[in-house]
Amino acid sequence: MRCVVLLALSFLTREGRCDLLRDSVHVTSAAARPNNELWCYRCLAEVPEDKCADLRQNNSALIHKCNNDRRICMVKRFSYTTSTENSTTGLKMWALERNCTKHCEPGCIIIGERTKLHACTSCCTTSLCNYDSGAPWRPVAALTSLVTIVLALIL
Ligand SMILES: *[C@@H]1O[C@H](CO)[C@@H](O)[C@H](O)[C@H]1NC(C)=O
Ligand SMILES: *[C@@H]1O[C@H](CO)[C@@H](O)[C@H](O)[C@H]1NC(C)=O
Ligand SMILES: *[C@@H]1O[C@H](CO)[C@@H](O)[C@H](O)[C@H]1NC(C)=O
Repeated sequence: MRCVVLLALSFLTREGRCDLLRDSVHVTSAAARPNNELWCYRCLAEVPEDKCADLRQNNSALIHKCNNDRRICMVKRFSYTTSTENSTTGLKMWALERNCTKHCEPGCIIIGERTKLHACTSCCTTSLCNYDSGAPWRPVAALTSLVTIVLALIL
């Protein structure tokens, strides 16, 4: 029942939250599964020009085999905006990480007032799928995720 509601809401957010649940199940039963054959990009970028942030360049050095129960590829992007009373700057990247991971929750968390920090995560489960630039800031999606969480708690 809960999953049906989450699935319905996931059409709104584009990122399936049921994927998250399914991944959790996979992780739990990891011992019963064959060897981990997943490969992910693994790197840390602190400037947008870094080849980790812009994977169009030769990136074979960033490819990494995932170990044990890390069966999800992820991209986590930290960025921020600053605002004065009259204006807000564009979103500036502060750091970006690609890695294999065990648990992954897609979506954005936004904290702060004048300086707003955006921490966005995307998750995927096929080899070398984590080439995207990190989930873009989508206020509607962030809001819908919140609704999803609240509903999941109520049901
Ligand atoms: C990737 O994850 C591993 C395990 O958590 C961690 O030791 C490593 O520092 C991470 N790599 C990067 C580039 O963040
Ligand atoms: C990419 O870089 C690797 C070493 O980092 C090198 O061996 C390989 O030839 C390069 N490939 C291309 C197409 O430049
Ligand atoms: C913001 O706009 C108001 C009204 O247009 C103006 O009086 C004020 O000086 C502006 N403040 C800044 C920091 O630009």
